[in-house]
Amino acid sequence: MRKKIVAGNWKMNLLTDDANQLISLLKDNKNEDVELIVFPSYIFLPSVIKSKGDKLMVGAQNFYPKDKGAFTGEISVSQLSDIGVTHVLIGHSERRAYFGEDESFLKQKVDVALDNTLTPVFCCGEPLEIRDRGEEFSYVKQQLIDSLFHLSIQNIEKCIIAYEPVWAIGTGKTATIEQAEEMHKEIRNWLTEVYGNETAQSISILYGGSCNAANAKELFACENVDGGLIGGAALDSDAFLTISNSF
Ligand code: PGA
Repeated sequence: MRKKIVAGNWKMNLLTDDANQLISLLKDNKNEDVELIVFPSYIFLPSVIKSKGDKLMVGAQNFYPKDKGAFTGEISVSQLSDIGVTHVLIGHSERRAYFGEDESFLKQKVDVALDNTLTPVFCCGEPLEIRDRGEEFSYVKQQLIDSLFHLSIQNIEKCIIAYEPVWAIGTGKTATIEQAEEMHKEIRNWLTEVYGNETAQSISILYGGSCNAANAKELFACENVDGGLIGGAALDSDAFLTISNSF
C-alpha cells in the first residue's frame, strides 16, 4: 500500500527560535498513519534532527551531487546522511528557475541521492504558459522521462514524486481537485507504462502548490493523491498538523 506523506518545505524561512518552536510543536504528532517530513534550511538540520523525536523525518532542500572536494559553499549527500538526513528535494521549480538546475543535473542528483540511500522527493510541474497552451501533460511527462525514468524498478520504488504546478506555488491559487487528480492519474499511468502496475501502485505522489488546512482534505481524497508537499502552510504548526490529519 502507498504511504501517506505530508512534507513541509520551509524554504528560506524562519530564524533559530522559530525553527525550534515549530519542531517542538510538531514532534509529538500522534498520527501513526501518515509519514511527516520537514525540510528545514541547512543551518537548522542538526538541531532539528536532535530534537525531532522519533516520529518526524528530516530532509534537505538541496545538495551538490559530488561526494566531496573543492566545491566551496556546497553540501554533499554523504554529509547529509552522516547527520541523519533521510530525504532530499530534487527538481523543485524554484531550483529549476532561479538556480538553473536542468534535466541532466537533476538526473545526476537523483542518482547520487539513491547511491547514498537518501530518498529523493522528485518535483515536477508545469508553468502557467504551458497549461494555457494545453501542453501540461507532455511537459510533465518529459520532466519525468529526462530525470527519473532511467531508474531501475528497485530504485524508482524508493522515490517519492511531487506534482507541483508552478502557477500554484506560493500564489494562493490551488489546482482544482480535477486538475490535481487528472495529472496524478497520468503520472501513475506513465509509471505503469514504464515499470508495470505493481510498482506504479507502490509510489506515493504528493500534490504541492498552495495546499493548506482548508483544501487538503478534498485534495487528499483524490484516488491518486497520496499527500502533500507544503510550503507556506508548513510554517504554522496548527496548519501543518491539520493538513497531516486530512486523509
Ligand atoms: P506553497 O509551496 O505551499 O507555499 O505553495 C509549495 C512548495 O513550493 O513546495
